[in-house]
Amino acid sequence: MKLVILGAPGAGKGTQAVNLAEKLQVPHISTGDIFRSNIKGGTTLGKLAKEYIDKGALVPDEVTIGIVKDRLQQDDCKKGFILDGFPRTIAQAECLDNILAEMDTALDCVLDLAVNDEVITKRLSGRRVCPECNASYHVDYMEETQKGICLVCGTKLVQREDDREETVINRLKTYHNQTEPLIGYYKAKGKLVVAEGKIRIEDTKTEVYKVLGLEK
Ligand code: AP5
Ligand code: MG
Repeated sequence: MKLVILGAPGAGKGTQAVNLAEKLQVPHISTGDIFRSNIKGGTTLGKLAKEYIDKGALVPDEVTIGIVKDRLQQDDCKKGFILDGFPRTIAQAECLDNILAEMDTALDCVLDLAVNDEVITKRLSGRRVCPECNASYHVDYMEETQKGICLVCGTKLVQREDDREETVINRLKTYHNQTEPLIGYYKAKGKLVVAEGKIRIEDTKTEVYKVLGLEK
């Protein structure tokens, strides 16, 4: 399946994408994860991306589109992919259509995870992430025995720098101004399915499988 997951910051894109990538055996491509690994590695791209990410703004389209184009042209994307956090602007969506058309293919589906701003603010303030493998957790749902350690690779969990309250406010503004119009863009193309981001991760997963027509 060639799938895009849309949604506000903290809607649960990463959480559902990791699960779906395993279920469908396709690569999970998160532009946010690519930027964060470059920031960690101190690359030129990382330094540039950090300037925008720290403000809750978008990294410029010309930078982001080139990265995604290179990634989609790798062999493992032939059987499908899950794009998480890309596209985020109409210009990115139009370029994605062109990139796929050049590869003689197209998106199968776009999944929008609908969650309101109030829930998002709570989720992001309690999020803890693994700096090694990018697994994401929430303090309210962490097992007592987990004690701030990643269940996948055992690394100490940290808070993402852009999960500070003032940055979250800007990320939400950026989302409403620049990314939310993509819902109409994909609806008009007949590609959009919507899942309510429920309170529990498992409930959201059930709904995602239902709207994508997948067996649990
Ligand atoms: P990115 O990393 O994509 O961040 P984001 O879109 O702000 O989304 P998040 O990763 O914060 O949230 P998520 O939806 O993945 O939710 P998660 O599953 O973690 O981008 C970061 C920055 O990079 C951007 O601000 C921008 O600057 C730049 N960037 C990236 N892509 C770009 C692009 N295409 N163009 C330009 N710039 C770009 O879940 C969140 C929390 O909630 C977790 O704690 C999780 O455990 C919990 N949770 C998840 N689902 C549920 C549920 N159903 N119930 C309860 N809790 C839940
Ligand atoms: Mg994410």
